[in-house]
Amino acid sequence: MDNKRGQWGSTFGFLMAAVGSAVGLGNIWGFPYKMGSNGGFAFLLIYLVLAATVGIVVMLGELALGRKTGKGPVGAYQSFAKKYTWIGYMGIVCGFLILAFYSVLGGMVTRYMVAFTLQLMGVDGFAGQGGDFFGFLLYDYGGLIFFCMLFMVTTLVIVMGGIEKGIEKFSAIAMPALFFILLFIIIYVACQPGAGAGYAFMFKPDFSVFSDPEIGFFGVLKSAAGQMFFSLSLGMGCMITYGSYLSKSENLQRNAFIIPVADTAIALMAGMAVMPACSAFGLEYTRGPGLLFATMQTVFTSMGSFGNFIGFLFYFLIFIAAVTSSISILEVITTYQIDKTIAKGKEPNRKKISVLYTVAVFVLALPVALDALGSGGAAIQAPYEMLGIEYKGPGFAMWNDCWLDLYDLVAEGILMPIGAMIMSILVGWVWKTDIIKKECELSGAAFKGYKYFDICFKYVVPVAMAFILVAQMMDFFG
Ligand code: PFF
Repeated sequence: MDNKRGQWGSTFGFLMAAVGSAVGLGNIWGFPYKMGSNGGFAFLLIYLVLAATVGIVVMLGELALGRKTGKGPVGAYQSFAKKYTWIGYMGIVCGFLILAFYSVLGGMVTRYMVAFTLQLMGVDGFAGQGGDFFGFLLYDYGGLIFFCMLFMVTTLVIVMGGIEKGIEKFSAIAMPALFFILLFIIIYVACQPGAGAGYAFMFKPDFSVFSDPEIGFFGVLKSAAGQMFFSLSLGMGCMITYGSYLSKSENLQRNAFIIPVADTAIALMAGMAVMPACSAFGLEYTRGPGLLFATMQTVFTSMGSFGNFIGFLFYFLIFIAAVTSSISILEVITTYQIDKTIAKGKEPNRKKISVLYTVAVFVLALPVALDALGSGGAAIQAPYEMLGIEYKGPGFAMWNDCWLDLYDLVAEGILMPIGAMIMSILVGWVWKTDIIKKECELSGAAFKGYKYFDICFKYVVPVAMAFILVAQMMDFFG
């Protein structure tokens, strides 16, 4: 690998960066709620089976393809044949779309972190809004844009530093910090009276969801599969990109195992912090931005004066989780341009490239920041209004009323499953699982479970991805 691109300095650093990419907003606001409302332990079992058969397999495929070709998704697919290049480009489009809404949400997290810091200093951090801060913030466009910019600049500065001195250095400090802060909050929350109901909500085995006409087995499967995919940063070339900076002596199979295990462990830990906190203060379990912002703020203000400190720690933790994910997405886009420049025989300028793409992401983020997360009466028309389509209720993207959901649908709902499906089909049927085996064996370690991976690449992953796609489409069309 040439040094124009850079390389991870250590296995630990790489793992922290990759786990950092996986652990993000998805773990904290998605997993606990989905688990609790989809049968608790029953959901967890399905999630674990999916992680073993799809998550680890796609992870290994992406890491191996990245390291084999030494390129991001576009370059990686192109190096097999020109006709595959578009699969890589789907990943780049995904990167832009996901980062566009991630940066707005990251900005909101930053704002809560700053608000609790002010509270700690005895200043009213909630701009006189108290518990209505979330409602105020959604329509405070100047603030939203400012904090989105602040979050993006943080992301940019780290990516500009490069693989080893930027992303790795930051993640190697930030991820252990995240772990210990989370542990501290879990212990603190466990000591609050009434916390028990929160654990029960998450972990109580409730296999009756399988016969629930509203959810059923396939409902649980769909929700677990979608969650796992986004949570592991798969299907858009993120792990191809991170893999492309790995040395040939790295044990890929071991890494492909550790990342999903750590991601799932942190998701469970996040649930053990958030759900009992809600139950202890008699608040409803919600999901999405409502949980992360409105509900959790109420939790911390109910905790009395120490609540400001716990609140600060909580949003600092989410800030770390969000930044380590957003740098991985910006890196996918940046690496694309770096590879392209090198292919032309020119010297890539990482700093210039990452600044340019950050500006592009920022422009794409504006509609998300201006429509109050689809709450209505916002500064920008909803997608369906802009496209002049009749509103048919929250449904398929084309008549969707929220920019964040539209971006998310195209990326997470369509492009990511297609990306992962095509990759597994190519590996399993066209290039054969042998190319993954050969790449893994370069480290000197024997490839374990060939038959298992072969079956998963050929059948399990494509079928699971097709299932997700069909389920999404059915959802959108009602
Ligand atoms: N895995 C991140 C989360 O759970 O929030 C989101 C994400 C990061 C998706 C990086 C895709 C990606 F490439």
